Amino acid sequence: MEYFKNFINGQWKDSKDGKFTENRNPADWEGDLIGYFPSSTTEDVNEAVAAAREAFEKWRLVPAPKRGDVLKVVGDIMLKRKDEIAFEMTREMGKVFAETKGDTQEGIDTAYYAASEGRRLFGMNAPSELPNKMNLSFRMPIGVAGIITPWNFPMAIPTWKIFPALVCGNTVVFKPAEITPKTANTLVKIIDEAMKEVLGKDYIPGVINLVHGSGKVVGEAFLASKDVDLISFTGSTLVGKRINEVGGRELKRVSLELGGKNAQIVMDDANLDLALDAVLWGAFGTTGQRCTATSRLILHEKIHDKFLNMLIERAKKLKLGYGNNKGVDVGPCVSESQRETVNDYVKIGLNEDKAKLVLGGEFAKEGELSKGWFYKPTIFSDVTPNMRIAQEEIFGPVLSVLKCKNLDDGINILNGTEYGLSSSIFTNNVNDAFTAVRDIKAGITYINGATIGAEAHMPFGGVKATGNGHREGGWTVYDFYTEWKAVYIDYSGKLQRAQIDNY
Ligand code: UN1
Repeated sequence: MEYFKNFINGQWKDSKDGKFTENRNPADWEGDLIGYFPSSTTEDVNEAVAAAREAFEKWRLVPAPKRGDVLKVVGDIMLKRKDEIAFEMTREMGKVFAETKGDTQEGIDTAYYAASEGRRLFGMNAPSELPNKMNLSFRMPIGVAGIITPWNFPMAIPTWKIFPALVCGNTVVFKPAEITPKTANTLVKIIDEAMKEVLGKDYIPGVINLVHGSGKVVGEAFLASKDVDLISFTGSTLVGKRINEVGGRELKRVSLELGGKNAQIVMDDANLDLALDAVLWGAFGTTGQRCTATSRLILHEKIHDKFLNMLIERAKKLKLGYGNNKGVDVGPCVSESQRETVNDYVKIGLNEDKAKLVLGGEFAKEGELSKGWFYKPTIFSDVTPNMRIAQEEIFGPVLSVLKCKNLDDGINILNGTEYGLSSSIFTNNVNDAFTAVRDIKAGITYINGATIGAEAHMPFGGVKATGNGHREGGWTVYDFYTEWKAVYIDYSGKLQRAQIDNY
């Protein structure tokens, strides 16, 4: 059985107190122990942060295109090992092989984007108000980035944060979710391999560090450290608020990607077969464990009954199982406690909200399924906007179906939660589509597409309680990992006073 290590200052190391946490396959809990990973201490984090701080002074001086070359090699290695990375990711967190391949591909896309960004990182110029003077502005690296990531996209989300941080010249201490440490281990190994290949004898230890462990220890140590300049976090709203509070007080730059309660609207003129494919994928893909998952379906009253029947018929046929087996549509919940949370929400839906359970609503235990944390795809109908199952993020295979009278009503229901990440509308009416783009309050809106499946080169993030205004992905994430420096070059040979000499 393999014992894994932290990666600090270019070396693989045990945690200071030598404690470990088990990592197991959620589809075969007793039968498949993946390995042991360090439960790190505050001292481990501080050592990693000190290494990153020291490395920053060298890494920031490596030309950005060269830093980009490292990411190019990272992308090449990931591409070569895509199937193997995906297989292990499915084993670790449960989603099906096609999806873990997609997760890995999102990392590859992000690597190549970052590689080419090393040759852009554009600054801006502006004319000076004085003669013989030039005004320029540059993007500068900031320092040490503490990266905290969730288990649902064990490869893609870390890469969204780590790759841009590195290309911009920052150094990184990475704390992955405790449930998905193996994919994190693989990613850091690949980055280090690429660093060595590209930098050769100029290799700098400490540019990327990996510290396994809990949020309570590792995350808190990031917050407490004066040497962590940036924190990027994807996870729960509760934890995000704490990071924002403490990080704000310490003047750290904080990027938060938090909860969602995403909805798909289906209008009466929509292509219903298409809308059906989309909601099945959006609600039950990744076992509903995406920030962008469709957890509310808002049906126009004219097609409500027909569409609901079509949905139940199709959802019934989804095949549950171990995601590395062929023909499986839906994997297990990631853990026992996550499945309990899902089940608690089903009880709330039934007993407190008094919604109508039309499919699922229980553990799936037939045959092989009894070995893992499987939950039947679940649908509630007769849900009204203020019910808890229509308001709170569940993060599992549970879909709440609501009814709307018209476009305005549908958009109002869609907007009526504290979150605003992803959204979707199915309609063939071009006016309704554009009205929805304008009026839906969300960071992402799909027209005739599922709420999941954002592309790596586009801005990713949400409004309201979903975040604090930053965006990941594409060109936008580069605003988070750099600070502007304004540079004035006066070649007049005399003292020129702005705002005074010319006016
Ligand atoms: C997430 O669930 O936090 O848009 C990320 C999507 C994926 C990323 C989801 N590309 O669904």
